[in-house]
Amino acid sequence: MRLSLRFIVPLLVVLSAIAYGIIPLVDELTLRWFVRDIDMRTSLIASTVQDSLTPLVRDGATGKIAKLFNRMIQDERLYALGFCDPSNKLVYKTQTFPEDLRCEAVAQPGEAPTQIVKLPHGPLHVALRPIQDEGGELGNLLLVHDMSFVARRSGDTKRYVFYLFVVLGAVISGLTVLIAQLSWRGWVQGIRSLIKGEGLIRPVSRIAAPELKPIAKDLRALIRDLEADRKARDESQMTWSPRTLKEILHNDLAGDEILIVSNRQPYIHVLNEGKVEVQIPASGLVTALEPIMRACSGTWIAHGSGSADKTVVDKDDHVRVPPENPSYQIRRVWLTKEEEAGYYYGFANEGLWPLCHIAHVRPVFRAADWNAYVKVNEKFAKTVVEEAKTENPVVLVQDYHFALLPRLIKRDLPDATVITFWHIPWPNPEAFGICPWRDEILDGLLGSSILGFHTRFHCNNFMDTVDRFIECRVDRETSTISYGGKLTAVNPYPISIEWPTRWLKTQKPVADCRSHVRALNGIPADRKVGVGVDRLDYTKGILERFLAIERFLELRPEWAGKVTFVQIAAPSRSSIEQYQAFEAQVRAAARRVNTRFGGNGYEPICLKVEHHDPEKVYEYFRGADFCFVSSLHDGMNLVAKEFVAARDDERGVLILSQFTGASRELAEALIVNPYNIDQSAKAVQVALEMSANEQRDRMRSMRGLIQEFNVYRWAGRMLMDASRIRSRQRFTGRFGETKLESPPMRIL
Ligand code: G6P
Repeated sequence: MRLSLRFIVPLLVVLSAIAYGIIPLVDELTLRWFVRDIDMRTSLIASTVQDSLTPLVRDGATGKIAKLFNRMIQDERLYALGFCDPSNKLVYKTQTFPEDLRCEAVAQPGEAPTQIVKLPHGPLHVALRPIQDEGGELGNLLLVHDMSFVARRSGDTKRYVFYLFVVLGAVISGLTVLIAQLSWRGWVQGIRSLIKGEGLIRPVSRIAAPELKPIAKDLRALIRDLEADRKARDESQMTWSPRTLKEILHNDLAGDEILIVSNRQPYIHVLNEGKVEVQIPASGLVTALEPIMRACSGTWIAHGSGSADKTVVDKDDHVRVPPENPSYQIRRVWLTKEEEAGYYYGFANEGLWPLCHIAHVRPVFRAADWNAYVKVNEKFAKTVVEEAKTENPVVLVQDYHFALLPRLIKRDLPDATVITFWHIPWPNPEAFGICPWRDEILDGLLGSSILGFHTRFHCNNFMDTVDRFIECRVDRETSTISYGGKLTAVNPYPISIEWPTRWLKTQKPVADCRSHVRALNGIPADRKVGVGVDRLDYTKGILERFLAIERFLELRPEWAGKVTFVQIAAPSRSSIEQYQAFEAQVRAAARRVNTRFGGNGYEPICLKVEHHDPEKVYEYFRGADFCFVSSLHDGMNLVAKEFVAARDDERGVLILSQFTGASRELAEALIVNPYNIDQSAKAVQVALEMSANEQRDRMRSMRGLIQEFNVYRWAGRMLMDASRIRSRQRFTGRFGETKLESPPMRIL
């Protein structure tokens, strides 16, 4: 309506102005046309009556002249007639002849052919026309025409012109408004869509105005850049802490429900000599997620694997943790021995684990294991539905144990936002392609709204794999995969640890840790100590590490007796043959090196195959001179980051495998190829001989990085991306449009 007025009013003003200028012009023109017409008429009448009038005038036949004149003025326009003699005296006239009209007052022929006289009863056209015979001029015929019809006609014309302009105005305004409305609406709608971000969600072809398509693309790119820029700026300016995470949950996610699903639980209750004890498992995943859960107060769904787990849960299988200060709950899922054997030991750890780690251990795929894996994923999906208090929780699915879970959750809770994090590497398509159930796994993972890996390299491997095996659209620019009408954003989120780490609070000064670690292991106070902390897993490169120590002692025998390498190896997945064999190999390697270079109570390698709680591990980190992380392939490896976090004295050297995700961030470590034994041996030497200043510089830089890129940032970035997706979903849902999960527009 407002739009119509905006168009019609100015249009009418313009048309009125035109009409106002045209109407007097029309008046003048019509008058001129009629005067010319009457002029011609006058001359015609005069020449017509010339022959009849001449003898009558010459004879002075007054009666006959009067008769002739009266006959002539029967014509409705000819108002009066008169005859002026050569001396301009009015000698004959009709009765209608105006009283005050005189022959001499009328312009003579040749002066001006026409004269308009305005008399009280209206305008008159007065003209003189000479009447001659052979003897010369007899006088002038004075013809008076009534001009009032001109005024009448001109009035009519003006009215018609006025109506014409009104109609014209109405038609033009109508058409203008119609066209303007149509295109304006299209533009406004299009621009609005773009500004509100709809254009980013909907395919360009669905934007209302087709003429917007070319600029829509540019605008989308611009908005994406701006958003990425803003995001980068915001994120770089943020200090990431539990508080930041709480703020994101409160502000960005409006307090939405958070559920975590992982196989490994953060606290395991075990029976030890009749007493229930709590164990914190050796798991990078647990290390990273536990502080998140403390900040979020959600529910963590995990396998209840501990021998005393059932004794401490409530009737709904919940237990509140951490035991010393409960702030969230674990929901325990019970698995039968067969389920655990097939799903966990079988498909997850004999199939997917070696498949994804390039550690040259052949994966084993058994149909029975796969069936158990499917069944357990279903079981966890059911548990997620049971635990969800709302229809749209944010579910953080963890790791390779639950590749099918994202799709299953979306089946039962279509409005849930599923963020899946794959904690281990993703191999190239050739390597992954050997899995007999590769399509099912890819399909399951693509149920996620966001799929995270530690590095861009693993994201690319995943996109290549999907591109190779699945019918879908992979957009590398936005790092998204469109599959079955849904989008999955594939992004790198490098995992990290909490900062400051809570394990440091209870630690003794470094000097005390050094002496305690030495005392515990019968190592003299002045001996250098290196440390390795891993699960007893073939991907960790423990054998290569021992080979490097051996080679170092070979090359620098003067160090024998002056350095001990303490390897803490947490028993892991020990039901699996591969792991049993590996443990045997590790023990044998340690023995060999100790036999070769040890003696007199000295053992170069101190192998401790047992579980150590984080406090103990941190004491080792603080008491050591160097830490050796030599994974053959590792998604991230949080041991490297924890060693750095433990060293608030800014001392100690980190030797780090180039095949860990951590090596992309911790460039100040001594980066080695663990397969290159000589290079690793050299790194051990450099670490032992490094000056205190250099240690400090390197450590300070790495600590600064971890402080900033801590685990709150890891989780916060995923949650912020999830919140963006959710707000767009709400927006599109409101308009009943096809629900497309949109990319979170990451900085690529
Ligand atoms: C890796 C995996 C985790 C797992 C951890 C310990 O870090 O990515 O998902 O929890 O190893 O392994 P476990 O089999 O003992 O849970």
